[in-house]
Amino acid sequence: MRGLFIKGERSVEIKDVDRPALDGHNDILVEVHAVAQNPPDSFSLLGSPGKPGNRLGSDYAGVVVESKSDCVKIGDRVCGMVSGNHSPHQGSFAEYLATSADLTIKIPSAMSFQCASTLGMSLFTAIQALFLKSPLALDPNHTKAVLIWGASTAIGMYAVQLAHISGIKIVATTSERNKDLISSLGAHIVFDYKDADVVEKVRESTNDNVTFAIDCVGSPETLKSTVACASDAQSATVHTVLPPAKDFKAKASSNVVFSLVHSGFAEDLSWANYLFPRPVTMEEMMQERKEAVAFFGYDRGTIPGLLRDEILKTTPIVATSKGLENILPWLLKMEKGEIRAGKVVHLLKE
Ligand SMILES: NC(=O)c1ccc[n+]([C@@H]2O[C@H](COP(=O)([O-])OP(=O)(O)OC[C@H]3O[C@@H](n4cnc5c(N)ncnc54)[C@H](OP(=O)(O)O)[C@@H]3O)[C@@H](O)[C@H]2O)c1
Repeated sequence: MRGLFIKGERSVEIKDVDRPALDGHNDILVEVHAVAQNPPDSFSLLGSPGKPGNRLGSDYAGVVVESKSDCVKIGDRVCGMVSGNHSPHQGSFAEYLATSADLTIKIPSAMSFQCASTLGMSLFTAIQALFLKSPLALDPNHTKAVLIWGASTAIGMYAVQLAHISGIKIVATTSERNKDLISSLGAHIVFDYKDADVVEKVRESTNDNVTFAIDCVGSPETLKSTVACASDAQSATVHTVLPPAKDFKAKASSNVVFSLVHSGFAEDLSWANYLFPRPVTMEEMMQERKEAVAFFGYDRGTIPGLLRDEILKTTPIVATSKGLENILPWLLKMEKGEIRAGKVVHLLKE
């Protein structure tokens, strides 16, 4: 089969390799119809965790062509994420991929492969931040505001919807042009992150009551602003999607938590050890995986039901292209920050 591999800095090559074999962990083989791209697919072309020879890609949607699973059959339409970019063996930018049935989502019959392909890394990361790593966040008794900084990131758009579905008051930041979009997804109060007074406005509107926040961008500036919005008087959790800079100092009332979506797979994570102050243990990852399965689980988890009932919507698709050979220019556009408020999707099968 053909797959897309890192060749060097900002360059890729298509190689013919064997189809992945099924093992204990990866119990279904999927023929990939559409893939969506994420920033890690793009920055892996610049080095860590990308190395020449690594297979690219995380998100996919396709059809099961081989199965050792008791719940997923040949011919089923599935989507999700694989832990790509960091080894030659896994990556969704390929004609076939092997994955674990219980971390897939059954694609609703009315949903296209294109839309389904956006339900991978961003959705999983939003779930990890809101539910798997931060029990504080979606406690049904949690009446305080949740702040979602960078709500028009793909992660942010899923986080807003999931928090809204959970009945939580959401304060969000986004650019002026995406305010209506973010309100339509369920945010109650939306501020422009470029406004010089944005931190003061968030604090005033929430009355020092933000005890959980997600920085969905992860830059030093956005983390600083997100922490500044969190409560001074109460203890707060601030989740970030990229590791804080080594010299970053949060205020005493804020606990800053970074997690990597890949830990939910409970596979070898030693390639990512450099991102953490201490390695994540297999025991922690197994617990996280168990909780993640309750969200996915092919057709058994919460997410397939929300999609089937059209309560959870996929993110906008801002561009599509066809074929492995046309992916690189879009990864380079993503590196330059030219992809806004939506996903780029590549069709790999007619
Ligand atoms: N921890 C993990 O496991 C994990 C997994 C996946 C991704 N990530 C990281 O998470 C981040 C987001 O990924 P994504 O795929 O969701 O991003 P994305 O969809 O590519 O984000 C694009 C959006 O970022 C927004 N943005 C840019 N600068 C901003 C700022 N200063 N403040 C607020 N919003 C800003 C823009 O909003 P406007 O258009 O409104 O300006 C833009 O639409 C990336 O850094 C990525 O590397 C981490």
